[in-house]
Amino acid sequence: MAASPDSVTPNKGGFRTWLNKRLPVDEFMESQLTGYFAPKNFNIWYFFGSLALMVFVIQILSGIFLTMHYKPSEAMAFDSVEYIMREVEWGWLIRYMHSTGASFFFIVVYLHMFRALMYGSYREPRELLWIFGMLLYLALMAEAFMGYVLPWGNMSYWGAQVIVNLFGTIPAIGPAIVEWIRGDYGIADSTLNRFFALHVIAVPFAIAFLVLMHLVALRQTGSNNPDGIEIKAKLNEQGKPVDGIPFHPYYTVKDVVGVGVFLLFFCGVLFFVPTFGGLFLEKPNFEPANALSTPDHIAPVWYFTAFYAMLRAVPDQQMGALLMLLAIVVLFFLPWLDKSPVKSIRYKGWMSKLALTLFAISFVVLSYLGLQPAEGIYVVLTRIFTALYFAFFILMPVYTKLETCQAPPERVTYHA
Ligand code: HEM
Repeated sequence: MAASPDSVTPNKGGFRTWLNKRLPVDEFMESQLTGYFAPKNFNIWYFFGSLALMVFVIQILSGIFLTMHYKPSEAMAFDSVEYIMREVEWGWLIRYMHSTGASFFFIVVYLHMFRALMYGSYREPRELLWIFGMLLYLALMAEAFMGYVLPWGNMSYWGAQVIVNLFGTIPAIGPAIVEWIRGDYGIADSTLNRFFALHVIAVPFAIAFLVLMHLVALRQTGSNNPDGIEIKAKLNEQGKPVDGIPFHPYYTVKDVVGVGVFLLFFCGVLFFVPTFGGLFLEKPNFEPANALSTPDHIAPVWYFTAFYAMLRAVPDQQMGALLMLLAIVVLFFLPWLDKSPVKSIRYKGWMSKLALTLFAISFVVLSYLGLQPAEGIYVVLTRIFTALYFAFFILMPVYTKLETCQAPPERVTYHA
């Protein structure tokens, strides 16, 4: 019987050659990592994409272990979470990892989005990358909201009540939609069950798919950078950007530094202040759901409070819900609202700089106001800052056209 070439020289090239014949590992490394050139002037704002990816992995891993002990039923959910905290070995750590991870996911994603706003990363040719990012943001909001309902604490219950009822403001079909979402006439066992299924399976899959599309779109256009100039415009003899460096090992190593610093903050909260003074885990959620007792102030977790403030900025609930929806939808249109001849804030005029600063301030202030009772001065302030939030977008086509910009440099700014 004729021997195959492999059986004659079984160790030729070793395991790596064997593997590469069957799986294009080296080819992938070459095309996507060592041979992929990213701009050499990335600053710390470029850490947050890889950090978002890491937090996603933390959430999946801690979530798997939580699911082993959690019971998705009205009768047992709250007790099963208490059981995880008190009886399951290291259960408290797993639960706090997941709840702290949720808040850190939003911190990281908000900084990631702000970077895109600063450097005009949403502009042509990265519109689709931005849209996938926005879809990710929506999916993340849905994931966090449904996760928050699962412990079946009193804020879970009343929060779900308020948010699901918002769909009731849709003309004509609203009430039917609310009933369809709940699967009952009130927030009930069936609601908890379906939120569990969506939180554990459907939405994480959607997020994973969107992350993949986000990264494929990023790879296609290449990253933007703090100067907002296209490095692909200047290539060397090998066809590589002169202002680029191989993603691996340079940025893989740099990202490890970001991960280290991130973990210091993350572990600091996780081990020393896991509830973060009621911001990451609210006090009423340590009491079981009670349909007969409303918490003093119903407020979502901090990462939704900017939009929650807008919801309460106007007396009419339908208008409030519309305002809240528009505040998110308008972000999708950013690539087409910005008419500036330059991308990066470094070279834009003073109007863009002022507008972005006021926008960031209004988002932070609205987040604070959303946590306060909707009365007196808080309402007045909410209206002012909501107007500022929207002004950033509505006036953008005007101020980005009117102002004088600096000419960006030919090559990226880089100090070794
Ligand atoms: C699960 C959430 C997300 C993950 C895992 C993720 C991951 C990443 C990664 C790894 C990068 C490349 C590294 C970097 O530029 O930081 C990136 C770039 C980018 N992401 Fe995200 N992202 C997420 C959410 C978002 C959201 C919500 C937006 C905006 C709505 C967004 C917009 C962008 C943009 C515009 C870039 C290109 C930035 C540039 O080249 O300057 N991403 N993302």
